[in-house]
Amino acid sequence: MSMLNSKKIHIKTYGCQMNVYDTERMADVMAPHGYRTIDTPEGADLVILNTCHIREKAEDKVYSDLGRVRAEKDRLAKEGKRMILAVGGCVGQAQGAEIMARAPYVDMVFGPQTYHRLPEMLARVERGERSVVDVDFPVVEKFDTLPRQNTHESPSAFLSVQEGCDKFCTFCVVPYTRGAEYSRKAADVIEEAKALVQQGVMEITLLGQNVNAYHGAGMDGADWSLARLMKELAKIDGLERIRYTTSHPRDMSDDLIAIHGEEKKVMPYLHLPVQAGSDAVLKRMNRHHTAASYVEIIEKLRAVRPDIAISGDFIVGFPGETEEDFCATMALVETVGYSSAYSFKYSIRPGTPAGEATDQVPEEDKTRRLALLQGLLGRQQFAFNRSTVGMEMDVLFDRVGKYEGQILGKSPYLQSVHLLGHPELAGKIARVKIVEARESSLKAELV
Ligand code: SAH
Ligand code: SF4
Ligand code: F3S
Repeated sequence: MSMLNSKKIHIKTYGCQMNVYDTERMADVMAPHGYRTIDTPEGADLVILNTCHIREKAEDKVYSDLGRVRAEKDRLAKEGKRMILAVGGCVGQAQGAEIMARAPYVDMVFGPQTYHRLPEMLARVERGERSVVDVDFPVVEKFDTLPRQNTHESPSAFLSVQEGCDKFCTFCVVPYTRGAEYSRKAADVIEEAKALVQQGVMEITLLGQNVNAYHGAGMDGADWSLARLMKELAKIDGLERIRYTTSHPRDMSDDLIAIHGEEKKVMPYLHLPVQAGSDAVLKRMNRHHTAASYVEIIEKLRAVRPDIAISGDFIVGFPGETEEDFCATMALVETVGYSSAYSFKYSIRPGTPAGEATDQVPEEDKTRRLALLQGLLGRQQFAFNRSTVGMEMDVLFDRVGKYEGQILGKSPYLQSVHLLGHPELAGKIARVKIVEARESSLKAELV
């Protein structure tokens, strides 16, 4: 066993939760080859940037970080040590060989579907191949061959059940970087969930780019929906909380809505991106839903689970967006009332239909609209948080805070909650009373 833990790997994660999950899986793949995870690139034998291509800024960040890691690689080389530098994830998929040309000190590039082949790619680089690029899409193979090590420490875990996207929203790169939609077999998901619970996990967030489009082979031979899968997961003793993200309004089926009223373990929170409130814009985005059909879903959800917290994603300044279109987004936000949300300026992505549009919105309009939207969303979040002051609720404390004796956790509504003076509750679910609200966090006391 002397080989074990003798080498150091650093993986930096950008982008969505799917990448967070993938990063853990990469660490699991490399662990049997003697690699132990470290938090910085210093002294690492292998550095992987697990990248995101969703907006231009995300991509720029990768290239600036690459420069920094290169400096460490050069420093190590002077000491006679070799660092292997890899770019994985969605920028790897989208740009492949271009990265090698732009940053020749990179040793390997791969996409999100091939990291189960990491040891093999690494061996090729070690044998002296100048560069290795692997941007295939063998998604089934990836899930079938991935190990899950017994290394999960947090009581909350991600579990990918669905990957890829066939929706082709005209602004989005994901269908190109993650490939076609694929759902894992229910039995595999349940087995992985049980293993996580055995390691002390109490909360599982099911992941997919379109998680509610899940249609995996069920244990009875039929295709299972996400709701059916969650019903089965809810039977696992010790698993207390189930979440899922990200959903598309088009796939918000009645059984999925209903489960929010039926299954206590399914948390009263839904992230349901709408992107815009103008039907004309939604049509040009190829979203296949309208503002009204979106609001109808929210109403159905609130009918079965009145306290459900709604979150969303928004894009301002999509090509051709007028002032009137933008006002429709503001009006939709007023109608829905969000507990939290993410909002972005539209970012031109090469290769996407909207990127070619000639009616791009000027930067100053995007900036102004984003500030207005974020102002409104921020006020809604604060109002939602204030509405929970005085309430008693179960909080899963999954982290220690930066102050002595402080622990941090999540409410059922996915609000951040902090508690002082009870460090023994770290890693546990505890009943607390909310005593103070800020815009993005809550203060609690033990009851
Ligand atoms: N699958 C999810 C989200 C995927 S990407 C869904 O269907 O909603 C996460 C968010 O990034 C999107 O919801 C969108 O709001 C934003 N986004 C995607 N492409 C973008 C672009 N080109 N510019 C700005 N924001 C973008
Ligand atoms: Fe992108 Fe649309 Fe697919 Fe979401 S549904 S990943 S926004 S193409
Ligand atoms: Fe980014 Fe890829 Fe996720 S582009 S948001 S890391 S699917």
